[in-house]
Formats: sequence, C-alpha cells, structure tokens
Amino acid sequence: MLGIIGGTGLTAFADLKITRREIIRTPYGEPSGPVTLGEVSGRTLAFLPRHGSGHTIPPHAVNYRANIWALHSVGVRNIVAVSAVGSTTPGLNSGDIVLPDQLIDYTYGRKHTFFDGHECQELAAVKHVDFTEPYSVEIRALCLQAAERAKIHMINGGVYAAMQGPRLETAAEINRLERDGATIVGMTGMPECALARELEMRYAAICPVANHAAGRGDSRHEVSYEEMGKTLRQTIGQICSIIEQVVILHGD
Ligand code: HPA
Repeated sequence: MLGIIGGTGLTAFADLKITRREIIRTPYGEPSGPVTLGEVSGRTLAFLPRHGSGHTIPPHAVNYRANIWALHSVGVRNIVAVSAVGSTTPGLNSGDIVLPDQLIDYTYGRKHTFFDGHECQELAAVKHVDFTEPYSVEIRALCLQAAERAKIHMINGGVYAAMQGPRLETAAEINRLERDGATIVGMTGMPECALARELEMRYAAICPVANHAAGRGDSRHEVSYEEMGKTLRQTIGQICSIIEQVVILHGD
C-alpha cells in the first residue's frame, strides 16, 4: 500500500474518501496521530500528518520511529512524504517544487534508528542499511511521471539538508550548507527517510519551496514566517494534484 506523510500545509487530504482511522500502538510510543485509511480515485492509501492533525508537533519532537512503524504495520511499503523547504541556491524560488535525490543529515538528539537493540526484539540485531541513494529510485520515477500527468513542473533532483530546528538558520549556516552542496533545507526529512529504509520501505519526498533560506534573495535580512505560510498555501493545490496522480499510478 502507498502511504502519504503530510507536512506543513498538508494536515488533511481533501480528496481522500476516508474508510477508517486506526490508532496504532508501537514499541516506540505514539505516532503523530491515527493513521487514516481511505481512497483517492478508487485506490487505497494511508495518510499520516507528521505534525499531528492540528499541526502541534514541532519537527524535533515528531516521533519518527512510531510514525514509520505505524505506517508499516497497516501494510504501507511505499511512502511519498511532503516536506516544506527553504532554497539555499540561486535559481530555486518560493513556489517551486523539488524532488530531492540526495540528503545530508545535520540533525542531532533524535531517535534515529530501529536498530538500537532495545524496544523491539525483532530488530535487536545491529544492521547497517545501505543509504547511498537515500530516496527510492522507483518512487521518485513514479512522482516525476505523476507531476508530468498533472502538468505541474517539478524539479528533478536536489540535495536536502536536514536541520534540527525549530529555529530557522543563520545566514552563515546557509552559506555552509551551500558549500556542502545542499540546495534545499528543511527540518523533517531525517530520520524519517532512513527509518523507512531500515524497515525496507521505499521512500521519496516532494518538497515545496516555501522561502529563500536565511540571507538569500528576499530573505536577505529576515525570513518571513507569514510569507512562508502564504507560499505554502498557494502551492498545496499543486502538491495534492501530483499526489492524486501518484496514487492512481501506484494502484493498490
Ligand atoms: N529552513 C529550514 N526549514 C525550512 C525552511 C528553512 O528556510 N523553510 C521551510 N522549512
């Protein structure tokens, strides 16, 4: 089954015909909320808003392990996640939509692995998963095809910098990220992506650009939170159209 993880601006999915809501207990604590199971264009999918249905859970406090575990336990094997980002690079602007193909993890202090030998006996043995290509080649291809069918331009490829948050970055931090090769910056891409890999789920992220990152473009002196929200509200319709096509192409 396909699972959609909604990010900022996507706490509900308008086109989803809800069939049931499941409260999942996990060895890792509570997920961000119940998993919603439903149909879009006759295809079943599971939906989970990462920050909770009222958008109350900040990025560093999301229980990523419980969320991924919950989706896996209802039968999800392929995930498309939506994660808002800032742009660290010229030529990438607010309102653009990026499908990253690489990431760099700068987060710290998050519960970032299932393989820590404690909560779940099944996963107690240490395993080092391959993460050369963090995003699934197959699910990325599906997303690109979906965007094409929805006639929405999506930028193929980008390097996602996962920051700890919840504060935004300094201009110097963004300069460093750019030197490191990052093109977009967000706070939720990790450990979500790696945890999906640990449970052998395919994962891709669709990233709406909400703003120029700190010190760049119109965020030269300040990043406007209001403008970020406004941009995301304008982009969300396009994201939903892409996801609808993803669901149709994916099938049950
Ligand atoms: N930085 C980090 N996370 C973000 C940003 C940003 O500029 N915009 C949206 N999420």
